[in-house]
Amino acid sequence: MRIVLLGAPGAGKGTQCKYIVDRYKLLHLSSGDILRRHRAQGTELGKKAQKFMDSGALVPDNVIIDMMIDEVGRATGGYVLDGFPRTVKQAADLDKALEGRDEKIDAVLNLGVNEDVILRRITGRRICPKCAAVYHIENLKPKVDGICDKDGVKLVQRPDDTAEVVKTRLKNYNEQTAPLINYYKRGNSVFDIDANGEAEEVRNLIFSKLDPLA
Ligand code: AP5
Repeated sequence: MRIVLLGAPGAGKGTQCKYIVDRYKLLHLSSGDILRRHRAQGTELGKKAQKFMDSGALVPDNVIIDMMIDEVGRATGGYVLDGFPRTVKQAADLDKALEGRDEKIDAVLNLGVNEDVILRRITGRRICPKCAAVYHIENLKPKVDGICDKDGVKLVQRPDDTAEVVKTRLKNYNEQTAPLINYYKRGNSVFDIDANGEAEEVRNLIFSKLDPLA
């Protein structure tokens, strides 16, 4: 199965991807995580992406498209795309690359979340700078306050998770990414998911759509 996960910043894409990859044995390809890895390793790509990411802007299409089409091309089985595509140009170029291999996106999940919920989720998120595990100060606390359960590293807040930068990210989402919903509705199966509830509740809604396709 090849899946695209759409949703505003903080909608819970990364959280739901963990459930999806476990159940359907898929590869998780998160453009945000891949970019953050490049930054941590100090690659040229990571340096190029830094100023865009920290200000809440999208990284230019030419940088992202090459990076993600390369990742998709190396996948040997199914995958779930998280954070890519994010513009109509990215989606069209992905479709072209897939057509060349006689492949297609099987399902698009569109996570809908109210803005007040998004703000609470994002400003309360903490991540492990070493293993990228995601926590929340209220909803998903680590066992020891401020410390990663997996490797004992001190948790941090993403530089783009401040209330001010989130406003820019949401504006960019509405202007540049939301049009993808109609793009995909023209030729793919799109499932609208109410993602305001608890993580497990949202997970069950997603499974009810994907199980018949698996
Ligand atoms: P990226 O990392 O993709 O950020 P994003 O899309 O803004 O999404 P987030 O990671 O913020 O949120 P999420 O939906 O995964 O939520 P999560 O599950 O963590 O991109 C970062 C930047 O990289 C972009 O701004 C851009 O600059 C660049 N970039 C990336 N891809 C690009 C592309 N294709 N083109 C151009 N630029 C690109 O959940 C959030 C919090 O809420 C967590 O703490 C979690 O524990 C909690 N939570 C989740 N679900 C629930 C729930 N149901 N109930 C309660 N709490 C919940």
